Amino acid sequence: MTLLLRINSSSRKSGSHSAAVADHFEACFRERHPDCRVITRNVADSSIPIISQKTIEGFYTPPEAMSAELLEATSLSDELICELQQADTLLIAAPIYNFTVPAALKAWIDQVVRMGHTFAYENGSFSGLARTRRAVVVCAYGAEGYLDGQPFAAANFVEPYLRFLLSFLGIKDIRFIAVQGTTADPKTVAAHIDAAKLECRQAA
Ligand SMILES: Cc1cc2nc3c(=O)[nH]c(=O)nc-3n(C[C@H](O)[C@H](O)[C@H](O)COP(=O)(O)O)c2cc1C
Repeated sequence: MTLLLRINSSSRKSGSHSAAVADHFEACFRERHPDCRVITRNVADSSIPIISQKTIEGFYTPPEAMSAELLEATSLSDELICELQQADTLLIAAPIYNFTVPAALKAWIDQVVRMGHTFAYENGSFSGLARTRRAVVVCAYGAEGYLDGQPFAAANFVEPYLRFLLSFLGIKDIRFIAVQGTTADPKTVAAHIDAAKLECRQAA
């Protein structure tokens, strides 16, 4: 069965453009894969804490030396990594916050990027261990001009960061769907949303 793992990271419970476009991707994906399963993580609900000292200790302790305390400190990471490893497609809905990803999304990333689980370091080089086949990232930007060749491209620390990170984990097929200008007038916003939804249909 095909699994879609969806990560929503907007702090907005209503009116989120990244979530609305990701909803559309999910609907198209369900149409294309009628027997699919979807796991949704709303990471902005504070369910994913910032990694602690014990979590980091657990990340670098060999399995046979793990104490009950370290097992507990890494259990959420285990669960999140298991979801990622089972997923055929990873869908991330991400707003740009102060030129980068929301802190809540970074908290999820810090739990799943883990040596020996989602990446390996051997003989001086890194390799990705993620079994996820592809990632689709819906990015919402309040302003416009963040894409390649546009005036604010140098201020976009969302797309280049996530593209590098996902590829570092070994995900080969990575697609970004941008919704720029979400703070513009309603007509402009509607046109941007429609264009992004069209891309979702093609990508699903
Ligand atoms: C804390 C915060 C920081 C933001 N920083 C930026 C920014 O750096 N650049 C930008 O274009 N828009 C910025 N915005 C606007 C959001 O990216 C925009 O409203 C986007 O649509 C939010 O995603 P959502 O609609 O999924 O909630 C910011 C919004 C918030 C709340």
